[in-house]
Amino acid sequence: MTDSIPVITLDGPAASGKGTIAARVADALGFYYLDSGALYRIATLNALSKGIDLDDADALTASAEKLEPVFDGDRILLEGRDVTTAIRAEEVSAATSRVAAVLGVRAALFALQKNAARLSGLVADGRDMGTVVFPDAPLKIFMTATAAVRAERRYRQLLARGAAADLAVLTVDLEERDRRDRQRAEAPLKPADDARILDTSDMGIDEVVQTVIAWWKDVGLKGL
Ligand code: C5P
Repeated sequence: MTDSIPVITLDGPAASGKGTIAARVADALGFYYLDSGALYRIATLNALSKGIDLDDADALTASAEKLEPVFDGDRILLEGRDVTTAIRAEEVSAATSRVAAVLGVRAALFALQKNAARLSGLVADGRDMGTVVFPDAPLKIFMTATAAVRAERRYRQLLARGAAADLAVLTVDLEERDRRDRQRAEAPLKPADDARILDTSDMGIDEVVQTVIAWWKDVGLKGL
C-alpha cells in the first residue's frame, strides 16, 4: 500500500534535531509528518498515568493496543486530554526508551505508523523508520550529531520553554537513552543499510533542510 507513496525516513539518536527538520521538510514538500516518537511517548505517559509497572510487558502491550490518540493540528489528545506538553517531560523521555523496548508495544504501534502514509507523501521521523516501518522508502536518512552538541541543543530548547534544565544531567540521560535504544533486541536504533548519514553537528537548521530536499530531488523522485 505504501510502496507507491513517497516516503522519506529520518532516523537518529535523541535530540539530533530530527523533529524540527522532518516538520520543515514535510512543510516544504507538502508531505504529511509522522512523529513516531510521539506515539511511544503517548504509550508511556498513558502507562505512567495508569500506574502500570514498566517491567510488565503484557500490561504495557495491552494498554498500547487500546491507544487511540488524536492528532489535531499541533495538539495531541488522549482520552480527551491534551497531552501535547506532558509527553515531552524529561521523566517521560527517560521512561519511553524502556517502554519502546517491549515487542508487543512496538507491534501495537506499527499499524498506527503505517496508517500515517498519505498519498501526498510522508516524512517519518524515529529510530526504525528506515529499517522496520518503511523499509522501501526511496530516501532514508540517518541523522547524527555529537552527544555534546545534542545535549546543548536540548538544553537550549528546555530553557526556551521556560523549563529548568541541567546540562550535565541532560547529557547523562541522553547517553543512557541512546544506549538503551541501540542495544535493544527489537528494532534497535541503527542506520538502514541503504541510509545516507547526515552529521549535523556543524550545520544550521536551514542547511540541513536544504540538504534533505536536495537529496529528495536527487534520489527520491527517481526511486518512485
Ligand atoms: O524521538 P523521540 O525522542 O521523541 O523518541 C522517544 C523515544 O521513543 C526514543 O528514545 C525511543 O526509545 C522511542 N522510539 C522508538 N522508535 C521510534 C521512535 C521513538 O523506539 N520509531
